[in-house]
Amino acid sequence: MDAKKIYSIGGLFDTPDSITHAAEAAVKEGYTKFDVNTPYPVHGMERAMKLKPSLIGYATLFIGLSGAAFAFLFMYWVSVMDYPLIIGGKPFFSWPAFVPITFEVTVLSAAVGTVAVLIALFFKFPNNAHPLHDTNYMKNVSSDKFGLNVAVIDPLFDENKIREFLSREGAHDIEVFYEPEKKPVNVFDKRFLGLLVVVAIVTAGVTYFTLNKLIYMQPFTWMGVQDRLSAQSQNVMFDDGFGMRTPVEGTVARGFTPYEFKGQPDSVVKNMSNPLPFTKEVIEKGKSRFDTYCSPCHGYYGKGDSRLNGQFPNPPTLHSDKVRNWSDGNIYHVITNGQNVMPSYAKQISRDDRWAIIHYIRVLQRSLNAKDTDLETKK
Ligand code: HEC
Repeated sequence: MDAKKIYSIGGLFDTPDSITHAAEAAVKEGYTKFDVNTPYPVHGMERAMKLKPSLIGYATLFIGLSGAAFAFLFMYWVSVMDYPLIIGGKPFFSWPAFVPITFEVTVLSAAVGTVAVLIALFFKFPNNAHPLHDTNYMKNVSSDKFGLNVAVIDPLFDENKIREFLSREGAHDIEVFYEPEKKPVNVFDKRFLGLLVVVAIVTAGVTYFTLNKLIYMQPFTWMGVQDRLSAQSQNVMFDDGFGMRTPVEGTVARGFTPYEFKGQPDSVVKNMSNPLPFTKEVIEKGKSRFDTYCSPCHGYYGKGDSRLNGQFPNPPTLHSDKVRNWSDGNIYHVITNGQNVMPSYAKQISRDDRWAIIHYIRVLQRSLNAKDTDLETKK
């Protein structure tokens, strides 16, 4: 039988101070390949051992940035190249919407990647045996003792000198550790992989059966299982492939009263009159609706000073003699029906609000065209 291969020599210390001293002394002695094992992180240990800052941060940064780039480019590819959808009129490349997912993927890949790198580099995966495993030393340092061990790969390794050094520093239970004789389990072993595959298949099958069949057994299925059309799929029943049928002409939606003068010239509406009283509340309501719906194009005072910077043709002023002399019904017709490029606002603004807006337009008109009698105080 071959002689056992030495891995390192180590000893136990009782207090955090003594282990810190021992680490400083080991550095002074010139040892470079030694390690310290403590049951909890001991403050100042990295300084005592003169450890260089870990390089793992660079791995984390690199993996995190790769994750960010992947997530961002993936969303770019989906929403600009592969499946562009107009959502709320926004441009396809709406990068602010990508930020949350990019952030999440960055954090996720950085965290998972760091752990993977640690396992691969420091534990030398798939190796899963370490010479210190299952030793008296390891049992103590994972409970209430502190250990220091110098590895055989240290250029200054000399068994007797290290024993001497350790006892000089006050170590007890000095011990020599050997490379494990047993070969570590080979995770790429055929039988092991075969077992993994069998476990995966059985787990998946049992899970599938339990979740989809066992707990979901229905007494009858004719409600759950019906012919229907999934979103974005083609309907084979109708020639045009659509599932939604256009309502037959003349259909009136529930609760909706059609506008009887739709599409007709304004001459027909002259004798429609404003059903709302000319009161402060109504005028204030009209002002709020006007400011919301009309002022972007017509300006807050109806002067035609649009805020849309030429994105839409500027409307004429509402202070023209023409509009001033129009009947309320005529303005109602323009709001409800639209006029040339101005679209109908019938869908956005309720009937009452439309009439309130008209009262407010009258107020605006009057304010620029006051009569002498307006200055008289009412008796
Ligand atoms: C998107 C811009 C836009 C909005 C919003 C808009 N309008 Fe207009 N409006 C126009 C344009 C442009 C015209 C001129 C149409 C034409 O060429 O006859 C017009 C014309 C009018 C006219 C007729 C003026 C005339 O001299 O013929 C009235 C009255 C009017 N709008 C009232 C309203 C009211 C009330 C609202 C709010 C409910 C409103 N508009 C909202 C763009 C707009």
